[in-house]
Amino acid sequence: MATILAIESSCDETSAAICIDGIMRSNIIATQAVHQKYGGVVPELASRAHQQNIIPVVQEAVAAAKINKKDIDAVAFTRGPGLLGSLLVGTSFAKAFALANDIHLVEVNHMQAHVLAHFIDDPKPAFPFLCLTVSGGHTQIVLVRDFFNMEIVGETNDDAAGEAFDKTAKILGLPYPGGPLIDKYAREGNPLAFPFPEPQIPGLDFSFSGLKTSILYFVRDRLKADPDFLKNNMNDVCASVQYRIITILINKLRKAAKQYGINDIAIAGGVSANSGLRAMMQEAAEKYNWSVFIPAFQYCTDNAAMIAIAGYYKYMNKDFASQDIAPLARMNF
Ligand code: KG4
Ligand code: ZN
Repeated sequence: MATILAIESSCDETSAAICIDGIMRSNIIATQAVHQKYGGVVPELASRAHQQNIIPVVQEAVAAAKINKKDIDAVAFTRGPGLLGSLLVGTSFAKAFALANDIHLVEVNHMQAHVLAHFIDDPKPAFPFLCLTVSGGHTQIVLVRDFFNMEIVGETNDDAAGEAFDKTAKILGLPYPGGPLIDKYAREGNPLAFPFPEPQIPGLDFSFSGLKTSILYFVRDRLKADPDFLKNNMNDVCASVQYRIITILINKLRKAAKQYGINDIAIAGGVSANSGLRAMMQEAAEKYNWSVFIPAFQYCTDNAAMIAIAGYYKYMNKDFASQDIAPLARMNF
């Protein structure tokens, strides 16, 4: 039996999970509301909130899993990438917990964990597969050959897809995080109402900064002509922006699928919670004969369950970390 306690603290979610032999027993997530009024995550406030949350969140995860602290065989934690001050809280907690209980420490890469969230529940993808990992800080197409044999074959040159949602929300006067709100308004709107340009980026890379600028100018010009433009057209604007972001993502996935001859396609990360993207992936499955893998909603945005499953596979490989390990704001695969 392998019982893993996992800690995630890379950004603005403090989360702890318990997984026993690869089966998730609890996944507690404390979302930090403190950032909403600032239009983005404030790093110093995030670190402080993690410090307040971490012990109660771990206690709740242990209680919800109906286990005893003494049953835990290893503690897995997010080493990076992320906000350094936030990562430090989770890393220090994990190191202290491992030391105090004389158990193994397992470091996990947050972006790999987003991909490995597909191994929490069935159906699980078979190797090799392609995974579009789209979050607030990253946009990557990952060629997944094995659990820890992954290669980034395409990524963004500037903003991440989640950032494109969040920055658009800011332009539209909506609070952070903007993705879920744009998703909500988009459901009632016409995605073809306002055509935004698709950037022509070579290969499998992405760019979202040009789109952001064109949205900024579009909104500015429309508001000049009609101060009520946003009030009367919020649904259509959100649907049109979301449609463009999603089509940029899916068109690159089509290119990657053809280039690598792989039709097993997964999506992961916060933006994979987007209902428009999820629906268009299902359509793509029919149109292009793909086997599509979409994570359960709770495993899309940041959560410790994905750290637990990644930690479990590392634990089985006896891939342990030592007490002198430090978190990394930037981290490669
Ligand atoms: O993976 P995640 O929770 O944190 C990072 O590692 O960055 O991703 C957060 C990002 C934010 O940019 C948020 O706006 C976006 O995911 N997001 C969404 C949706 N839910 C979260 N974007 C579009 N539609 C959603 N439903
Ligand atoms: Zn994430």
